[in-house]
Amino acid sequence: MAGLKGKDILHGNQFSRKDIDGMIQIASDMEKELKKKDSLTLLKGKILATLFFEPSTRTRLSFETAMQRLGGGVISMASAEGSSAAKGETVGDTAKTVSQYADVIVIRHPRIGSAKEAADAASVPVINAGDGAGQHPTQALLDTYTIRKELGSLKNLTVSMVGDLKNGRTVHAFVELLSLYQARLYFVSPGNLRMPEEITSNLKQKGIWIEETEDLEKAASESALIYVTRIQKERFADLTEYERVKGSYVIDSKFLQRLKKKITILHPLPRVDEISLDVDSYPGAAYFRQVRNGVFVRMALLAMVMGRR
Ligand code: NCD
Repeated sequence: MAGLKGKDILHGNQFSRKDIDGMIQIASDMEKELKKKDSLTLLKGKILATLFFEPSTRTRLSFETAMQRLGGGVISMASAEGSSAAKGETVGDTAKTVSQYADVIVIRHPRIGSAKEAADAASVPVINAGDGAGQHPTQALLDTYTIRKELGSLKNLTVSMVGDLKNGRTVHAFVELLSLYQARLYFVSPGNLRMPEEITSNLKQKGIWIEETEDLEKAASESALIYVTRIQKERFADLTEYERVKGSYVIDSKFLQRLKKKITILHPLPRVDEISLDVDSYPGAAYFRQVRNGVFVRMALLAMVMGRR
């Protein structure tokens, strides 16, 4: 796939159907390879730098795992507080500096647009692992791969996106990818956490069917998949506002019984209280399988960006 060679990965809208279908194929090959051996040599000698200015468990560890499984090496900052950002260095200067060490950079930062700034300054490909309430394109890729594995196909799905659609960067990126497959979308959120108008109108212009609602049960009963997200506490200027909306939607086994049909449940994680623990054993609860898929997808993406696939 020459398509992504040398490219920055910044936004869910940058991919074509061909890119995604190619990535799914390569991720699936990676998954098969890892069943045969512990690691590959595809990126031997290459170095990935992870720059995380915001907390992360899955994204950072799965990128680091992916690079090491490909035979490459990883360098990373211990924390934002432990880096020169604490002395006032700009994201651009940090990215320029790290370009002197690494062959590819993965960055997470609390400000929208920061990954683009890093990419503009860097001389190596930059991958956006979350820019504030903006975008999280690699999560969207692994979500897409997970649907393909769980449901067999991506075409003409009805999906309910649930939770903090205003601040959730995973949903902002994921809907872009779903729109390539003509998904029908329910946006289920409290009134003050609706999907940004710009994203919704953009999708509608592309001919995507969207219904915004606060009624989770109705939306879920008409969906094959629900994508549940956490209320993004750290994005609230006013914490009393957070207290008012937290716990708005909770998926528990009683809810699933009322649905009277099997549904697939994804969540980018971490969860707070929006999926209760008794759901974990439900056959359609795919969120920990989704975590594992992150490694294969990030392997595929790194190989593609480095021009090795
Ligand atoms: C998400 C994120 O950081 O945006 N987590 C992740 O990368 N899997 C979701 C979240 O924090 O709610």
